[in-house]
Amino acid sequence: MMPSRMIPEACRVLEAVPVTGKEMHFVLEAPQQEPFRPEPGQFVMVSLPGIGEAPISIAAIPGEGTPEGTFELLIRRAGRLTNLVTRLKAGEYLYVRGPYGRRVGWESFKGTNLVLIAGGLGLAPLRPFIRRALIRRQDFRRIDIAVGARSPDELLFRDDIASWSARHDDVHVGVTVDAASNGWGGRIGVITTLFDDMRTDTEDAYAFICGPPVMYRHAIRKLLAMGFYENHVWLTLERRMKCGIGICGNCQMNGLYLCQQGPLFSYREVRHLKEAV
Ligand SMILES: Cc1cc2nc3c(=O)[nH]c(=O)nc-3n(C[C@H](O)[C@H](O)[C@H](O)COP(=O)(O)OP(=O)(O)OC[C@H]3O[C@@H](n4cnc5c(N)ncnc54)[C@H](O)[C@@H]3O)c2cc1C
Ligand code: FES
Repeated sequence: MMPSRMIPEACRVLEAVPVTGKEMHFVLEAPQQEPFRPEPGQFVMVSLPGIGEAPISIAAIPGEGTPEGTFELLIRRAGRLTNLVTRLKAGEYLYVRGPYGRRVGWESFKGTNLVLIAGGLGLAPLRPFIRRALIRRQDFRRIDIAVGARSPDELLFRDDIASWSARHDDVHVGVTVDAASNGWGGRIGVITTLFDDMRTDTEDAYAFICGPPVMYRHAIRKLLAMGFYENHVWLTLERRMKCGIGICGNCQMNGLYLCQQGPLFSYREVRHLKEAV
């Protein structure tokens, strides 16, 4: 019999909030057939019957800033499925299977400095890392959070950013936009300009990067120049996915199955893949 985790389950939309012109923020009831215990960096396959399926990163984990029994997604309109999904309203249903993807042992990062870097939609998969690090604040030393967006209008999760910025416990938040619009009083410039403010001991630090592929090359080069070890820089890779569980080969990149072995990798694991970074 097929494990229930493989069968899409109808999850009730509890909240559907437009964030920008393109994205919707969903709070959903978690799947109930099996315990739904995702780790930061994992994703679910979402679907509408007869339309299609797409991988979407989990943007909040049950019990970590969102109530037990619920989870969150941030979905950008990109094509046929996501156009329809982003029209869903509270009380309607989205089909979900998962969680899928590598479960990265959180213990290995304990006692170190953390640098968490998100560009654009990359803040969705990075948000559970940030939330967990702040919930387990005593497990880490200095925490730097760098958030970048193309314009102020595209800045996601503004309430989270404001609450992270208000902390005084050695949590340092930088926000920048590529181009300002009226009323923006914050920083302007690419995300790597924020790294200049990071006074972290890079010998004993881990960096996590989520964002558009173009950002990776610049961000990684700068982090390595700052002294980060290659296996201490982690990034998420995206490819088109179909099954999400290592069967169809759609997400394969030089023998790596992104859906199962990733989407989170250390730079050392993928630096030899031309396609990756
Ligand atoms: C592991 C993973 C996590 C993701 N997390 C999120 C998320 O949290 N929020 C979110 O909005 N989107 C996320 N995506 C992207 C999302 O899966 C695609 O936007 C979605 O599949 C588009 O489906 P569609 O049927 O609406 O559009 P389609 O008609 O299939 O595609 C529309 C356009 O999007 C492009 N596209 C499709 N898939 C991808 C992809 N993986 N990467 C880049 N471009 C793509 C297509 O080439 C096409 O140009 C994630 C993708 C992966 C692989
Ligand atoms: S999506 Fe099918 S093998 Fe990865």
